[in-house]
Amino acid sequence: MAEPKAFFLSTPIYYVNDAPHIGHAYTTTAGDVATRWRRQRGEEVWFLTGVDEHGTKVQRAAEKGGVSPQEWVDRLVAQSWLPVLETIDAANDDFIRTTEPRHRDRVQLFWQRVKDNGYVYSAEYEGPYCVGCEEFKLAGDLAEGEGEFAEQLVCPVHGRPAEQLQETNWFFQLSVFADRLLQHYEAHPEAIQPRSAYNEVMSFVRQGLVDISMSRSSVSWGIPLAWDAQQVTYVWFDALLNYATAVGYGAEPGTADAERFARVWPPDVNLVGKDILRFHAVYWPAMLMAAGLEPPRKVFAHGWLLVGGEKMSKSKLTGIAPEQIIDTFGSDAFRYYFLRAIQFGQDGSFSWEDMHARYTAELANGLGNLASRGTAMVVRYRDGELPAGHDLTDAERQIVDSLARTVSVADPAFCELDFSTGIVAVKEFIDLVNLYVTEQEPWVLAKDEAQSARLDVVLATICESLRAIAVLYNPLMPKAMSSLWEQLGAQAQLGPRAEQRIVDVASWGQLPAGTRITKGDSLFPRIEEA
Ligand code: MSP
Repeated sequence: MAEPKAFFLSTPIYYVNDAPHIGHAYTTTAGDVATRWRRQRGEEVWFLTGVDEHGTKVQRAAEKGGVSPQEWVDRLVAQSWLPVLETIDAANDDFIRTTEPRHRDRVQLFWQRVKDNGYVYSAEYEGPYCVGCEEFKLAGDLAEGEGEFAEQLVCPVHGRPAEQLQETNWFFQLSVFADRLLQHYEAHPEAIQPRSAYNEVMSFVRQGLVDISMSRSSVSWGIPLAWDAQQVTYVWFDALLNYATAVGYGAEPGTADAERFARVWPPDVNLVGKDILRFHAVYWPAMLMAAGLEPPRKVFAHGWLLVGGEKMSKSKLTGIAPEQIIDTFGSDAFRYYFLRAIQFGQDGSFSWEDMHARYTAELANGLGNLASRGTAMVVRYRDGELPAGHDLTDAERQIVDSLARTVSVADPAFCELDFSTGIVAVKEFIDLVNLYVTEQEPWVLAKDEAQSARLDVVLATICESLRAIAVLYNPLMPKAMSSLWEQLGAQAQLGPRAEQRIVDVASWGQLPAGTRITKGDSLFPRIEEA
């Protein structure tokens, strides 16, 4: 039997005109949690991220910085974009840069094929172009300006007028794909999520599509066309292809790259912010259709992190660097907070107060307290040796049943990128176990020799619950769960936590009697409000 296809998830590739802010880290974190969850289920996974290095925006940033574009991107990638992956604890399988030869060669090959298939022609373009979006704007895309731009039409995302362009360049015959896209999406409504994004794309495509310029003659920082060295590939039509070039599109048959492509294609999820939905749900699948490749199975558009009601952005000086938060709260809390507090797909605001309040209530007092109480009591009352927990009463059976229900909610939720539902399901289980501890009062049982067997059951129940929590939260908070796994002595008994499968997590009684429990550092130390 053929092996199942690997689960392939990508983040957008980020512009390296500037350093990352938490809006960028948000997309990568979501992708990382989703793919770690899949790995925890035992699936083969390919998690791709990277950077978008070409185009006018990057070229101008380099000019302003007084260096060549290549020097600019090399420096920013090394100093900011690669380190941020460590800061947020991302476990990506690959990192693509669009200046790499593997990308350049395959982009040239791709467009040559699309041209050979008859979908590329030369024509004159005249119209507005927003450098912030790197996008040719259509009449309906622009809005009335305000303040210094009053009475002008501006880009609604960047609040600035678009530049008027006039060029002879090569066009991609997007218009001929409108019907095929509509048919594809009618047959696969799950292919664009959330539903609001699906509706937006369908109404855009139903209005009919116009052909779009796929090259630029007035830009030099890009990938030259294979058949016309005077023109570079339009930056979006270079960037979108990273999802294919990075996994081996166009590689020689029989090579490792070609095998990779066969294992992962098509993408299971192209994760994007809602601002770049049209590129991913209209242009991208049309390009693939033109080249005879299968389109992505799902494009998921998440919302924006807002500051003062507007999209956080460096150009508006509202960007917060991920390390500003992580230095105080740690990467686990960062990952937890953004996926827990904001329904994935909707916009959300960040505030220190909210972050601090949730950290204290849910991580320090909730999970952290349960872990430290549970391990400390085994150390204190049983010299660190996990007792056997026979004779479960209704109170324990309630915990066992609740764990099974938790998994049955969390698993589909994480698979569907509904992170907050998955996280809350586990959190409610933690709350239930904390309540169980309070009600069972093991510290009272410990004073009565006659209650020794009962105390054993309670301690075993707490530790077994912690074992399950460590597995379920491992994709979300790998550092803290590593520490918890160690404190539970689980590594020696059950093996690495990454190898614990979601499908088995609810089977009760895995941590055997006699396991050495230790009391380690607090998982989520209390933090004074700044
Ligand atoms: N380079 C293009 C993407 C090419 S993908 C083939 C690009 N880069 S970007 O750096 O501007 O944005 C990358 C991602 O970061 C997008 O998904 C975008 O939505 C996300 N975010 C940027 N600012 C954001 C917020 N304030 N909030 C949430 N996500 C945001 O577009």
